[in-house]
Amino acid sequence: MSERPYYKDHVVYQIYPRSFCDSNGDGIGDLKGIISKLDYLQDLGADILWLSPVYPSPNVDFGYDISDYKAINPEYGTMEDFEELVAEARKRGMKIVMDLVVNHTSSKHPWFIQSKDRNSKYHDYYIYAKGRKNNKKPPNNWVSNFMSEAWTYVPECEEWYLHLFTEDQCDLNWKNPLVLQEVESILEFWYSKGVYGFRCDVINEIYKTSLADGKGTRLNRYRGGEHYFNQEGNHKILQKLRKEVFSKHDTMVVGECPNSTLDDARKFTTEELDMVFAFEHQDSPTYKLRPWKFRPFDAERWKRIFIRWQESSVWNAVYLENHDQLRSIDHFGEREYWKECGKLYATLLLTLKGTPFIFEGEEIGMLDYDHYDLSKSRDIVADNVKRILDPLPLTKKTKENIISHYCRDHERMPMRFDSGKNYGFSSSDQTWLPVTDEHPDINVRNEENDPESILNYYKSLLRFRKQSQALRGERITFIEKGKGVLAYYREEENEKLLIILNLNNHIVNGNFENESVLFFNYSERDEMHLEPYECRVIKVN
Ligand code: GLC
Ligand code: CA
Repeated sequence: MSERPYYKDHVVYQIYPRSFCDSNGDGIGDLKGIISKLDYLQDLGADILWLSPVYPSPNVDFGYDISDYKAINPEYGTMEDFEELVAEARKRGMKIVMDLVVNHTSSKHPWFIQSKDRNSKYHDYYIYAKGRKNNKKPPNNWVSNFMSEAWTYVPECEEWYLHLFTEDQCDLNWKNPLVLQEVESILEFWYSKGVYGFRCDVINEIYKTSLADGKGTRLNRYRGGEHYFNQEGNHKILQKLRKEVFSKHDTMVVGECPNSTLDDARKFTTEELDMVFAFEHQDSPTYKLRPWKFRPFDAERWKRIFIRWQESSVWNAVYLENHDQLRSIDHFGEREYWKECGKLYATLLLTLKGTPFIFEGEEIGMLDYDHYDLSKSRDIVADNVKRILDPLPLTKKTKENIISHYCRDHERMPMRFDSGKNYGFSSSDQTWLPVTDEHPDINVRNEENDPESILNYYKSLLRFRKQSQALRGERITFIEKGKGVLAYYREEENEKLLIILNLNNHIVNGNFENESVLFFNYSERDEMHLEPYECRVIKVN
């Protein structure tokens, strides 16, 4: 236990397999595609590769609805391909992490199909209940996290089942010990294939203490949440999994924990998970759901969130992007400062305390779609938001903005490797999500050839981080340098660094160190001011 875990000194790269690299020209990314890019990832400095789900799935939520936990989706390849991926990654000193989605299974999973028979042992694998009003209305007033109904009626057994996401993602009943046994067996199965760990999908929602009504209106997508977020029973289950499975492996287990506070995170990372993904910093800017109101980006507020989490003893999973969040330059910054923002966020990501998670394409400054035909969107969340907005008295433009804000197709835009057909993602004429001619210069080849590129900045900062004890260490001390300016010392043994990040879109005047600057995103600097989005990593003597 005393040995420092691997993940504390290394960097994770998230792959969304469907959108990463297509090896056989069907327009869908796959495992062989990933294998073909391992050299690129190694050269970048990625150590741990987390794959979004690659299991068989009806793709209602593109892999987050699993119909077989111990197999590979044929769209992505075979189990042999997966074994080859693990082996090829290992040759390059890289490890593979799987996505574990066990709040729910697909409605096409054999367990769920059999569960409709009330006499089957699988009935109790799910959360069934009689409805109200003579079984005509759902058992309670909960709303799904995806803003739709949370219950669906099954005529075969004359009961309703709970789903916190789509009706094709049926919530497992974690009060049933057999469910825990199944999950333990899934974990061991993948450990035996040589995987290093797991990213656990919405793992703080699995235990439903009660099925009583929730507070709030229909527009509250967490209505009912007080009965299932961060419950005591949830902690007990994770403690069991830690004891019975995780503790027997050299592993990294990171939990996705929406709607969690710092106190929740502290609890989850004590004898349960190694790290959690929290979401507070994603909410600036956002469309608040009730009423539909845009809350613009607030640099000072953003900064305070980072400081609060970083000053705690919790080891963070540090991330800005993933397959559910808008691209960070569009979300937190401005395209006018594309390159500066790309480097600023790289610096934030790689110098804070914790394990950094880079999302595919983030390292080349990929952006959201400019002109996206929302009527063709592939994301179920966008569909739900559309439906909710439909009857509301908002302008067409406002509705489009809101839908676009929630539509997760943006960040799933196929990865761009070169300037050829489909930017090297696929040779197909039809890719699963559109490839656009917007910003054609944003691609790996181009970035590799430009010494000043975002990609080359990532590479050198990652190289630096590997040999910097200060950046990998636990100590961080914040200092005040002005509104919306995040500044901190990172210090260990004989090394001391000062990091200054102007998160604002405007100039900040003050007094800023300008000697021994190791990393920066403007070629001209002075002591008197910071340019918009300027960043500096300074060696302190
Ligand atoms: C998590 C995943 C998201 C998925 C949802 C339901 O939030 O990251 O992509 O839709 O869980 O599984
Ligand atoms: Ca393919």
